[in-house]
Amino acid sequence: MLQLNNIALLQFKNYTQQQFVFTQKVVGICGRNGSGKTNLLDAIYYLCFTKSYFLASDAQNVQIGKAGMRIEGNMLLNNTTQNLICILRENNKKEFLYNKEQLKKFSEHIGRFPCVIISPDDTTLVTGSSELRRKYIDTIIAQINSHYLYNLVDYNKILVQRNSLLKQAAEVGTINKDVVEILNQQLATKANYIFEERKLFFKQYIPFVYDYYSKIASKTDNITLHHQSALYTETIENLLEQNLQKDIALQRTTAGIHRDDIEINMNGALFKTIASQGQRKSLLFALKLAEWQIIKQKKLYSPILLLDDVFEKLDGERMHNLLQWVCNEESTQVFITDTHKERLEQALQNAAINFQLIELQ
Ligand SMILES: Nc1ncnc2c1ncn2[C@@H]1O[C@H](COP(=O)(O)OP(=O)(O)OP(=O)(O)O)[C@@H](O)[C@H]1O
Ligand SMILES: [Mg+2]
Repeated sequence: MLQLNNIALLQFKNYTQQQFVFTQKVVGICGRNGSGKTNLLDAIYYLCFTKSYFLASDAQNVQIGKAGMRIEGNMLLNNTTQNLICILRENNKKEFLYNKEQLKKFSEHIGRFPCVIISPDDTTLVTGSSELRRKYIDTIIAQINSHYLYNLVDYNKILVQRNSLLKQAAEVGTINKDVVEILNQQLATKANYIFEERKLFFKQYIPFVYDYYSKIASKTDNITLHHQSALYTETIENLLEQNLQKDIALQRTTAGIHRDDIEINMNGALFKTIASQGQRKSLLFALKLAEWQIIKQKKLYSPILLLDDVFEKLDGERMHNLLQWVCNEESTQVFITDTHKERLEQALQNAAINFQLIELQ
């Protein structure tokens, strides 16, 4: 089992200096708007991913008017305590220590301490651009399979090289065929691996999404998810070759696994154009709970669940079901926030579980 025992925050967003000790597997966090509930969840996310869920730049997480920040936590994993420290130095250089040893690459940390977050703005995952969905899927697979992450990092590096070659070619009017050939080959090797891993992943992931969706929402919404990739119909080698002139004209690589998406339909129409708010929320929960399940299955221990403001999103009965599923899973630590103390307390009591309630001032 994976469990966060405590966390200490220094100059992290609204927290000047504060410590929290978590004594139960289910932790309710309540407080008024702006009291730091989401920030506390984000600090936990930081320890798992070496970065913020919400902000792309580390420096933005430093308390306004201060320089540098620090997050330290102790995680219990299979009965041993693991110490995690994330430091942003005053010059905004980041260091991450795992059991007092500095990580050489932050990517080696991904997946050691898996974590799934559900937050209010996440419905953009369903309604937003394909890039968001790709990133989302990549983050899941990366937590299960570190080779996937390394291949993806390599793929993106080669893609940048190829794109700058295309840019040059567009400017000077000719392209070095040998160099293109080499880059195509390198890109293809990585792309094939990534494509196969995604294919395999979707095969296992999608049935979980259907299952959760039908549990959460109406069974008559006929939801379908479908992995879209040009590699289903053509080899990457051919795609890169066939599109070369177009790529030079547009100065970027137009086909490849960096263009994959998940097509989501409901009753035969595009989900994002016809789904109601409630249906979007239900699908979001289904996607995230499926993520939780699949990571649990692969890791043999459960990711930490961070549920931010979920009461605002689901009605009483759905909330009750959700809490039953996640809080009664013996091996899952759950953090759940709400602005209403009584509502949170009541919901956790109803789910008949031992819980700890933290009230933020
Ligand atoms: N870099 C920062 N430095 C100082 N304070 C910050 C920083 N970033 C955010 N804050 C403050 O943190 C508070 C927001 O905290 P957070 O989003 O965790 O609140 P919350 O309890 O989740 O509120 P809500 O119920 O509205 O979701 C705000 O008061 C905000 O001004
Ligand atoms: Mg919040």
